[in-house]
This record gives sequence, structure tokens and C-alpha cells, in this order.
Amino acid sequence: MIYWFSGTGNSRWVAGQLARRLGERLMDIADCVARGDYRHSLQPGESIGWVFPTYSWGPPPVVLDFIARWHIDGYEKGRTYCYMVATCGDDVGLTADIFASALGYIDLSAAFSVQMPNNYILLPGFDTDPAELERSKIASAPRRIDGVADAIARRGRVTDVVTGSHKWLKSRVIRPLFLRLLMSDKRFAADPSLCNSCGACVASCPMRNITLDAADGMPRWHGCCAMCLGCIHRCPRRAIQYGKITRAKGRYYFKPL
Ligand SMILES: Cc1cc2nc3c(=O)[nH]c(=O)nc-3n(C[C@H](O)[C@H](O)[C@H](O)COP(=O)(O)O)c2cc1C
Repeated sequence: MIYWFSGTGNSRWVAGQLARRLGERLMDIADCVARGDYRHSLQPGESIGWVFPTYSWGPPPVVLDFIARWHIDGYEKGRTYCYMVATCGDDVGLTADIFASALGYIDLSAAFSVQMPNNYILLPGFDTDPAELERSKIASAPRRIDGVADAIARRGRVTDVVTGSHKWLKSRVIRPLFLRLLMSDKRFAADPSLCNSCGACVASCPMRNITLDAADGMPRWHGCCAMCLGCIHRCPRRAIQYGKITRAKGRYYFKPL
């Protein structure tokens, strides 16, 4: 069973590729949250996989919140294989350590990272990758996923992640500040002269956090945001901005080559 969360499609695609290679079933974390479905059962010998994007050198809070409520029947300590795959634009810092702690009594057997195009655009200095880099990351991903799938199939006990430099500073100092100050949806807004109320933002939101206002047809965000950026990247008219910072930034949504 592979649990996945994704904002702009990278992790969804990686989860799907792994599921295909390994013959695993997929579980959409956002769907589980929407249904209030936190209790699942493992079949005999089944492994538990987690695929999610890296958010400020750690797992997305929505994934950690899910795990805090989640219960898995059929888990056998010392036997059940459990792994995580963090997609990232660059590096994951101490994501594997943070994730292992969040799992509590469940042992994390292996951790992997897969570099994919960057989707973080809300701070100065952060933008989507240049087109050529975006393309080369997507082109390199299948080989990396083959390697990850082989290690999982062998039940390898490995930590195979790109932690990057200053991992402690990034995951233990910057991340808590980021989570406290930069996870709010209050600054998202659609420009009424560009938005045609197509609803792509509503459909893209895994948290069901966006509705179109009955009066003016403009999207409204309701404070239950995972900061996945699906809405801003998915808007076909670039009508959605986050304050002024995103006006000149790129947009990205995973498409296979
Ligand atoms: C809120 C946020 C924080 C991010 N932080 C990191 C990070 O710490 N390191 C990194 O390499 N990429 C970071 N990224 C980029 C994403 O992890 C990366 O693009 C990921 O593959 C997106 O996955 P998705 O398409 O499944 O949503 C961040 C993206 C977002 C939205």
C-alpha cells in the first residue's frame, strides 16, 4: 500500500510509477482526510509506502497530521517493511528523521528522495526551474524510480536521500519558523480581470479548501490550506497570485515528457 500526497503532480506521478513497478495499491491521503478515513488494514506481507513532497526540509504538515490520526491493522513489528519517498526540488534536509519520529511505534525501514521540478515560488529568490532543468529532472526520474523500486522490492534497509548542506539549520531552525509564519492562505487572491471562474483552482485543491463565491464567482480560500500551491500553478490564466511576489514567477504542473 502506498500513501501519497501531492500538490502539483510530482509525488502523485512518482507514487503511481512505484505502484506500477511494485504491484502496490495507492491511497490518496487527501481523500482519506476528506472522508475521515484513518483506519486501514494490511494484507499479509504487504509493505507501507509514503510518497510526498518536501516542505521546508520536512514532510508536509498535512501528512504528519494524517499520521497522528492513522491506525494500521496487521502491522508486525520487525517484519512489516515501511518506506518513505520524498520528492524535492533540491534537497530534503532531515525529512527522514522527522518522518521516522512521526511514525511512532512503526519503524521506518528505508527512506529515499527523488529530485523533481521545483514548485516553490512564494519567497524572494525561489522560482520554478528553468525549462531545460525542469525537462532534465523529469527525464532522469524514471531511472531513479527504477533504483528506488529495486531497493524496495529487495526490502533494502537504506537511507538514500539528498540531505543537502546545513541540514540541521534548515530542518530544525528554518522549518519551524516557516511552518509558523508561511503556511497561511490569506494572501492568495484571484485578479477579477483575469479569472473566468473556470474552477480549475477548486478542482486542484486536495484539501477542498477553495470555493467559488456565489456572488462574484471569484475563488475564496477558507483557511485549511496545505500550502501545496496546486491552485496557483494550475490556474490556466495566471489569475491567482500570492500577494505581489508571484507576479513575475513561473508556474509548474507535472506533465510527462
Ligand atoms: C511549501 C513548500 C516548501 C518546499 N520546500 C522544499 C524544500 O525544503 N526542499 C526542496 O528541495 N523542495 C521544496 N519544495 C519543492 C517541492 O518539494 C517539490 O517541487 C515537490 O516535488 C513538489 O511535489 P508535488 O508536485 O507532488 O506537490 C517545496 C515546495 C512547497 C510548496
